[in-house]
Amino acid sequence: MATTFTDIDSVGKRYRFSTKLPIIGDEEGVLLTSYQAASEHTAARILEKLGKVNVFEICSGVGGTTVFLAKRMAHVYALDINPVRIEAAKINARTFDVLTKITYIQGDALDDKIIDQLRAKDIDAVVSDVEWREDLSRSLSETTPDIDKTIPNTSALYRKMTTALTRNLIMHMAANTDKQQLRQLGSCEIEEMTYQGRVKFINVYFGALINAVGVTRFDMDNSVDQTQLS
Ligand SMILES: C[S@@+](CC[C@H](N)C(=O)[O-])C[C@H]1O[C@@H](n2cnc3c(N)ncnc32)[C@H](O)[C@@H]1O
Repeated sequence: MATTFTDIDSVGKRYRFSTKLPIIGDEEGVLLTSYQAASEHTAARILEKLGKVNVFEICSGVGGTTVFLAKRMAHVYALDINPVRIEAAKINARTFDVLTKITYIQGDALDDKIIDQLRAKDIDAVVSDVEWREDLSRSLSETTPDIDKTIPNTSALYRKMTTALTRNLIMHMAANTDKQQLRQLGSCEIEEMTYQGRVKFINVYFGALINAVGVTRFDMDNSVDQTQLS
């Protein structure tokens, strides 16, 4: 039986998307989906630094980021542990007419078998958006600063990706994340993503995706490129 989904308008997050196309999913999945401006900005950074490459997206959720990556990248391998979110992500990809550019993988981001299979796929960049809470029963706003307490563990994810696939990583992290811990992973750019003057979250860049080592800032308010949307 097909799952009943809600949409971005019903959960009060329409302002995150300038596209009028519907984004659907389970309620928490839709609440967790990233800002369109941030997703497009991520795709633009990869395009600028590496060209139109294959991307592995970890914790892809209902696919709010996946659709914008797929518009600009050669191919997206999108992984999430939650099968209901993958079902929703496929519907969203069809809506945005990018379904053929995405391969969905249901499983754990730290599963060696899955990562081994991806070694043959010529992945040049990894985008991750782990759970920022250490306890999934807590409210969405209770984000942990400790990168070893995110779900999955961000340090473990970093080590696995850089060993098995690529050093070119973009991690979408909570605004209160411990920056010192991030720097201990490796040389990085920590980009504060602002909306209406407030830092909403950070993007952490590693490898060839770095523009400038240190803390930078990106204002999401007026950044949506309408020409890329259908
Ligand atoms: C912040 S949400 C991702 C939102 C997504 N980037 C978007 O824009 O729609 C985090 C996702 O991580 C997934 N997740 C949690 N633990 C995981 C694991 N061990 N492996 C893979 N995915 C996991 C959850 O199911 C959830 O969809």
